[in-house]
Amino acid sequence: MADPAKVERTQVGIVGAGPAGLILAHLLHLEGIESVVLEVRTRQYIEERVRAGVLEQGTVDLLAEMGVGDRLKREGLVHHGVEFRFNGQGHRIDFQSLVGRSITVYAQQEVVKDLVAARLASGGPIVFEAKDVSVHDLTAKSPKIRYQKDGVEHELICDFIAGCDGFHGVCRPSIPEKSLTIYERVYPFAWLGILAQAPPSSEELIYANHKLGFALLSMRSPEISRLYIQCDPEEDLTHWSDARIWEQLHLRFATRDGKWSLTEGPVIQKSIAEMRSFVTDPMQYGRLFLAGDAAHIVPPTGAKGLNLAATDARVLARAITDFYASGSTDILDRYSEICLRRCWKVQHFSWWMTSMLHRIPGESAFDRQRQLAELDYVTSSRAASTALAEHYTGLPFTI
Ligand code: FAD
Ligand code: DHB
Repeated sequence: MADPAKVERTQVGIVGAGPAGLILAHLLHLEGIESVVLEVRTRQYIEERVRAGVLEQGTVDLLAEMGVGDRLKREGLVHHGVEFRFNGQGHRIDFQSLVGRSITVYAQQEVVKDLVAARLASGGPIVFEAKDVSVHDLTAKSPKIRYQKDGVEHELICDFIAGCDGFHGVCRPSIPEKSLTIYERVYPFAWLGILAQAPPSSEELIYANHKLGFALLSMRSPEISRLYIQCDPEEDLTHWSDARIWEQLHLRFATRDGKWSLTEGPVIQKSIAEMRSFVTDPMQYGRLFLAGDAAHIVPPTGAKGLNLAATDARVLARAITDFYASGSTDILDRYSEICLRRCWKVQHFSWWMTSMLHRIPGESAFDRQRQLAELDYVTSSRAASTALAEHYTGLPFTI
């Protein structure tokens, strides 16, 4: 007979140690609320996974308020503007003068490292390599999470479960299909991203719309560049030699006056990311609350995925804190409504940036001219630049 499961109890069971799960766990800890974080991967894996890099001002402020902003403050690169490049010319949008805010470039895996360190320092558990995680009794007063660790079955009895397990996690599929409405759009292009040991060729990010396709210049430090180019979603990475990638980057960033140059360096990481917009409505079912990529995905052009995960975690922490403090379920009941209101605005911005900056397969000559006119308008009208700057640096956080 199989050994009986080891039964444990916690207030909040959190599935997934990405930004959403780790921010939530730390915010709850600061309010004296217990949680257990279950993560399928190893600590090393999640601390090395290369993903996003742009933090909105509100995300930076949140991490600082949580006491995990010291290294971010020291090592993060504060940017007061961004460049849009098209027709061989660059146009800067100055966030500071338009909206008085900025963004910080700091890699997602560094945020994860800081949050893991804070969690472990506070004595809060993270179960790494938790296998076969499943969620049960979601509409009951005490939902449960079952998992295996080192061959031992565990059952975790919770007051609430937070599904922070990303797009491919187990929490969203555990909700009956008929209880959810899914909105989805898959884009007919992808991003090939590289990390290169090369000093960034610009102090600020450059989003380029070129007839050969989109390109983005970003960075991780004064020595490391992060660069992306639009490619076919079916593209085989083996067809993209380093030389071919650099050639495309030179072409797509070239300026008409020929004065701008791109510094090359050894490519230390290379991957292809698909582009998708996806929303789950509602983001809650019984006592299961979805946060971050488990509930929604944005195409990366607006640099919003990580920031949206952070705001969901913030709303959920507030809702759970209110519940334990006063018994009120007011914010818990409105969790989806509050998060989706922000999410749809961010969805629109991400879709808009994506549509404005990429070459769309099958586009007509009219579509192309309209796209270039939009870029011209956005970069020359103060009203339009202000809207872009407001979105890019992050909409105000409201509950
Ligand atoms: P995640 O970071 O995905 O965290 C979920 C966690 O749950 C992971 O650690 C995962 O291992 C764990 N997990 C999954 N299943 C289980 C399970 N069954 N049991 C236990 N744990 C589980 N955004 C940008 O803005 N710019 C970018 O350039 C960019 N690049 C990206 C590249 C890739 C390949 C991906 C996948 C995403 C990228 N994003 C980017 C989006 C951004 O990184 C995400 O929006 C952000 O990670 C969301 O945080 P999260 O905590 O919701 O989810
Ligand atoms: C980065 C990623 C993005 O999706 C983006 O829009 C800007 C920068 C980055 O990885 O640095």
